[in-house]
Amino acid sequence: MTRHCLEIDDLDAPRLRRMLENARAWKADPSAIPQVLSGRGVAALFEKPSARTRSSTEMAVVTLGGHPIYIRPEEVDLDRRETVEDVARTLASYCAVIAARVFSHSTLDRMRDAVSVPVVNLLSDAAHPCQALADLLTVEEQLGDLEGRRVAFVGDGNNVVSSLAFAAAMSGVELVVASPPGFEVDPDVVERARNLGGTIELTGDPYEAVHGADAVYTDVWTSMGQEGEAEARRAAFDGYCVDDALMAEASDGAIFLHCLPAHRGEEVAASVIDGPASRVWPQAENRMHATRSLLVDLLEET
Ligand code: CP
Ligand code: NVA
Repeated sequence: MTRHCLEIDDLDAPRLRRMLENARAWKADPSAIPQVLSGRGVAALFEKPSARTRSSTEMAVVTLGGHPIYIRPEEVDLDRRETVEDVARTLASYCAVIAARVFSHSTLDRMRDAVSVPVVNLLSDAAHPCQALADLLTVEEQLGDLEGRRVAFVGDGNNVVSSLAFAAAMSGVELVVASPPGFEVDPDVVERARNLGGTIELTGDPYEAVHGADAVYTDVWTSMGQEGEAEARRAAFDGYCVDDALMAEASDGAIFLHCLPAHRGEEVAASVIDGPASRVWPQAENRMHATRSLLVDLLEET
């Protein structure tokens, strides 16, 4: 059966563990990276901008011996020039994997249903699984064993924290999320993460969330595609900035994480993201190491 990764719960806990171990091993010793994509291509289609995801995915493919094909949205013009299914079938006839960053998650569902090569979600309105893999890798690398770690996410109950909820649930990490009313994590995500055995707490109080946390994580208040709501969101998220006072509530030695791009002075104070607790640069680098492991996992049975 073809493996896909549209959300972290497409994986299982043993595969997730092996991916993290491979990511660390190949990061330490690039000469051991298996050349599973030798002579093969990965299509990487983007409907939205990207600094990290495009570059880390392309380099992950190159280090696996493959060739990445970056596709701009205007080149394929999904569902206007031709259907999502016809684009996916065409790309699958040349490439071993289709990876895509899309507005609507349903576009990925349609791609997956149309092809027999793995489809990878490079971010949708609902999920950002490649980011969550890098997040786990970073927490484990920086703090040690994941089991029993407490991660506080402060901000919008968005794609990034949804994938983090599944990643946490499958690796024994306790997740607590502080969001203002109306911006909580999707209840369906919470239920699915809890059904996987995860501990996920929701609160409206950032201080309660961060109390005793080993890692404090935030993301933008306005995600790509929501630009028209930016002003209303800035007002709704007043009081949710991760600043030094909030970080002081976390455990001694707590680290700060952000998937980036960041807005200093909105969701995070410059003194935090540019300060000693910040691990955002190793976290960004780990996008490549995590995506490499994911691609190897997905290609194992194809
Ligand atoms: N974190 C992340 O996905 O960054 P980009 O949007 O720059 O790819
Ligand atoms: N939540 C953000 C993440 C960017 C990497 C967005 O979807 O724009």
